Formats: sequence, C-alpha cells, structure tokens
Amino acid sequence: MTAGAVNPLARVLVIGGGYSGLRFGQAAAALGAQVWLTRRSAPEGGGNNAAEAASPLQWLPYDSAAGQAPALPNGLTHVLVTTPPGAASGGDAVFQQLLEPLRQQPLQWLGYLSTTGVYGDTGGAWVSETSPTEPGLTRSRSRLESEQRWLASGLPVQSFRLPAIYGPGRCPFTQLRQGTARLVHKPGQVFCRIHVDDIVGALLHAAALPASQRPAVINVSDDAPCPSSETLGYAAHLLGCKLPPVQRFDAIAGAMSPMALSFWADNRRVSNHLLCQQLGYRLRYPSYREGFAASLREEQASGLA
Ligand SMILES: NC(=O)c1ccc[n+]([C@@H]2O[C@H](COP(=O)([O-])OP(=O)(O)OC[C@H]3O[C@@H](n4cnc5c(N)ncnc54)[C@H](OP(=O)(O)O)[C@@H]3O)[C@@H](O)[C@H]2O)c1
Repeated sequence: MTAGAVNPLARVLVIGGGYSGLRFGQAAAALGAQVWLTRRSAPEGGGNNAAEAASPLQWLPYDSAAGQAPALPNGLTHVLVTTPPGAASGGDAVFQQLLEPLRQQPLQWLGYLSTTGVYGDTGGAWVSETSPTEPGLTRSRSRLESEQRWLASGLPVQSFRLPAIYGPGRCPFTQLRQGTARLVHKPGQVFCRIHVDDIVGALLHAAALPASQRPAVINVSDDAPCPSSETLGYAAHLLGCKLPPVQRFDAIAGAMSPMALSFWADNRRVSNHLLCQQLGYRLRYPSYREGFAASLREEQASGLA
C-alpha cells in the first residue's frame, strides 16, 4: 500500500465512515495518521466503551439532515467524502454545510467517492474518464451534480468514480447459503466492480502523487467486467454449493422493484487505464476471482461466515 500520502503528520477526516470510509480510515491510521470519521448515530456507549477507547479512530456524530456541520478538528490535511447526495432534496447538504469549514483547513487533498453511473448506459461499450457523462438514472444525475460542485469548489478535489463495491460482507455468499440468490441472465449485460481494498489503495496512491499530477477524475474499476451470472457461479464454486436455476431477465423484470430494475438499466465497461497504466496503480484484486476468495477468507477469519 502507498505510504507516501498519509504519514504520521497527516490529519485525516472521513465524512461518512461507512463501508469504504471505515476501511480507508483504518488504513490511514495504520500508516500513522490521526483519523476522525463521521457517522450519523452516536457510537454505542457514547464513544466511551473499551473498544472505542482502544481504537485509534475518533468518531464525530454528523447527520446532514440535522442542518449543520460538526465542529471539525484543526489542521486537517486529508479529507475523504463518501456520503451520497440527497436525491430527494435535489441538492447536497453535506457539500453546503462543509464547504466553508473545509476552506478554513490546510487541506492538501480531498477525495470524493462518486459512481460510474454518471456515464449512463453505453450498451456495453467501454468508457474512460474523457467519455461523455450522460446519466440516465435520477440518482446518477444528482451524483454528477454533486461531483461537479466538489470539483468546482476550489479545494484540492479528486473524484473517484466507482462501480459496484464488494469485499468482506458484501459478496453473494450469504444469499447463496440462505437460498435467496438469483441467477439472472440478460443477454449482453455486464457489470463492473471493485474490491473495497482497491478503493483504499487507489485513494492512497492518488493522494501520494504530486498535486500537479493528480487527475481531477479517476475511474476505480477492476479488469474484469462480466455478467453477474459469472460472479455468482464463482461464488457458488468457492462455497461448494449449488446455483439456483437460471431466470431470464425478460421473464422476471415485470415483478422487480424499481430499485432492483434500476441496477439493470445501465450496461457499460469501465476502463481503468488511467489509474493502472498511466498512474501506475497495481490492483490487489484484478478480478472478482481473487477478490471473492480473499473476502471469503476474511469473512471466515472474522466470524462473519
Ligand atoms: N455500494 C456500492 O456498490 C457503490 C457503488 C458506487 C458508488 N457508491 C458510492 O460510494 C460511496 C461509498 O459507498 P459505501 O458503500 O462505502 O457507502 P456506505 O457504507 O453507505 O457509507 C456511506 C456513509 O455516508 C454516511 N451518510 C449517508 N447519508 C448521510 C447524511 N445525510 N449525513 C451524514 N452522513 C451520511 C453514512 O453514515 P452512517 O455510517 O451513519 O450510515 C455512511 O457513513 C457512497 O457515496 C455510495 O453511494 C457505492
């Protein structure tokens, strides 16, 4: 993992210490940085229980719905924003509330987690960072607006466009074990994905670059866009369990929820050429094969499985 960006002098704030944010915070703390993370609910035990006290991570309560930013620690050098824009409000309360407080900080780098949904549907064609942004879904349109606001903020922002995030606790193992996994076939449809530790690795790699060499927008996607039936098949192989029967997308689409249906609306292949060839980042998990196997090992080791 790149150590250059986040060093013992770094003071890191993660706005949204959820799945990816927590993993990033833990990696930064392991490199010696001081790390604060926000979450909406108060920590169990009010932050005073033994586990919280022993952790190098410090938690700040923050819910943008409450209408104001938290009091930020002084001297922040690195910030990661993982919060999604509020689709309903048509704006981004996190941006509105935090922009001015962040302008008061000696920031060297701000990473914003965006989505590859901003490219819209390309019928399976490849997209790069220079491809047109033509989001079809409402949530992807508000994401693009939010990304553009951060990029135009005057802060040292890089936006990281992510496909489906997976990793320990976010693989199809539980659904397969419980018999709730669905094997759906839609001809020609592929999905892109990224292991959470490659998000963390790419963030640290990008932040370590000299500011003048940091692209504003970077796709963070692995080398293996493929149908979800392929990834489900591999997950079943790792577990040694049977796959459910194949269902044709056309036959079941009418019974899908609008949210479930929306995941099938876009079809594209996301290039990581900029990250991996031009910027020299080496993926830890180039495909779901290594990534699923490592995730299963970690789930088993941590008692999740
Ligand atoms: N999941 C995917 O496959 C995927 C794919 C592409 C892009 N993305 C985007 O990438 C980002 C990171 O994904 P993730 O799966 O790591 O996200 P996640 O686990 O859902 O974490 C999101 C974080 O944002 C915080 N948050 C949400 N709404 C907030 C609000 N109104 N005020 C303050 N904090 C708020 C959450 O707080 P709590 O901890 O209190 O819940 C959580 O810490 C997200 O923006 C997501 O939309 C996700």
